[in-house]
Amino acid sequence: MSNVKICLVTGATAGIGKVTAQTLAQEGAKVIIVSRSKEKCTTTVSEIKEQTANKEVEFIAADLSSQQEIYKLADEFKKRYSHLDILVNNAGAVFTSRETSADKLEMTFALNHLNYFLLTNLLIDPLKASPAARIVNVSSMAHESGQINFDDLQSEHRYSGWGAYCQSKLANVLFTYELASRLKNTKITANALHPGVVGTNFGSNNRGFMAMFVRLYLKLFSISDKEGAQTSIYLATSPEVENVTGKYFVKKKVRNSAPISYNQALASRLWQVSMELTKLKDSI
Ligand SMILES: NC(=O)c1ccc[n+]([C@@H]2O[C@H](COP(=O)([O-])OP(=O)(O)OC[C@H]3O[C@@H](n4cnc5c(N)ncnc54)[C@H](OP(=O)(O)O)[C@@H]3O)[C@@H](O)[C@H]2O)c1
Repeated sequence: MSNVKICLVTGATAGIGKVTAQTLAQEGAKVIIVSRSKEKCTTTVSEIKEQTANKEVEFIAADLSSQQEIYKLADEFKKRYSHLDILVNNAGAVFTSRETSADKLEMTFALNHLNYFLLTNLLIDPLKASPAARIVNVSSMAHESGQINFDDLQSEHRYSGWGAYCQSKLANVLFTYELASRLKNTKITANALHPGVVGTNFGSNNRGFMAMFVRLYLKLFSISDKEGAQTSIYLATSPEVENVTGKYFVKKKVRNSAPISYNQALASRLWQVSMELTKLKDSI
C-alpha cells in the first residue's frame, strides 16, 4: 500500500470543507471531494490542483441528504479505491423553514446527521482496510443547546430551524462517541469538533429575516474559513491525535461537550433509530 493518504471530504466546494480538502492536498494526500453540484466540484478540483500542484484530486458528486445518493457515492468510492484513510464528514446546513429530503425526512436531520451516520457505515470496509484510519465529524457548539426529540424527531408537529440544527449537531457528537466505542478494537479513530463561528456560505440557502440575521452575525463575529478549518485538519493529520478517539475538540484542544452528549443510553437509542431510518440491516 502506498504512503499517500486517501481522504474523502464532504461539503468541500465551499467554506471549511474546501480549506480542509485544499490543505490535505497541499500535504500530498489524494483527496476526493463531495458536494451536490458537478459544476462546483469540477471548478473546485481545478482550483485545488492549480493551487497545490497535486494532481491527485478528484470528486464524486452526491446530494448527501438523499440516502440513495449516499449509497451511490459509497459504491463509486469502493469501485475506485481500495481503502480510505481519512473521512471528514463536514457537509451540513441550517434550514430556517422545514424542508423534506428525497426520503421524506426532515432536511436538517437527513443532511446533518443521517448523512454522517449512513456514509460512515457504508465506508467502514475501506476504512478498516487502512493501516490507521481517522473519522472526523464536524459538529458545532450549537450541540450544547440541542435535545434529541424522539417524540417528534422529524419536527412534524413543531419546527424551529435553530432547534433542528442544534439537535442535528448534538446527534453528531452522540454518533461520534458511540462510533468510537464500537470501533475500539480497530485501528480507526473517530472524533468530533466545533470549528468556531466561521465566515462561510453557511445559511445562504435560506431567505428572509433569519437568513439575513445569520449572514450578518457571521460577517460581524466570525473567523476566516482558513482558521475555521484548522481543527478539522489537525484531527485529520496531526500525529498528536494518532491514537485519540471518542473526543470533542475546539481550537485543536479536547473539550468537554455538553453533559447530555455523554448519555450512552441516548446515543445507543439514536443509533438504533438511525439504523431504522436508513434501513441499514447491519451496522458497525
Ligand atoms: N460556519 C460556521 O460558523 C459553522 C459553525 C459551526 C459548525 N459548522 C459546521 O461546519 C460544516 C461546514 O459548514 P460551512 O460553514 O463550511 O458551510 P458552507 O460554506 O455552507 O459549505 C457547505 C458545503 O456543504 C455542501 N453541501 C450542502 N448541502 C449539501 C448536500 N445536500 N449534499 C452534499 N453537499 C452539500 C456545499 O456544497 P454544494 O452547495 O455544492 O452542494 C458546500 O460545499 C457544517 O457541518 C456546519 O454545520 C459551521
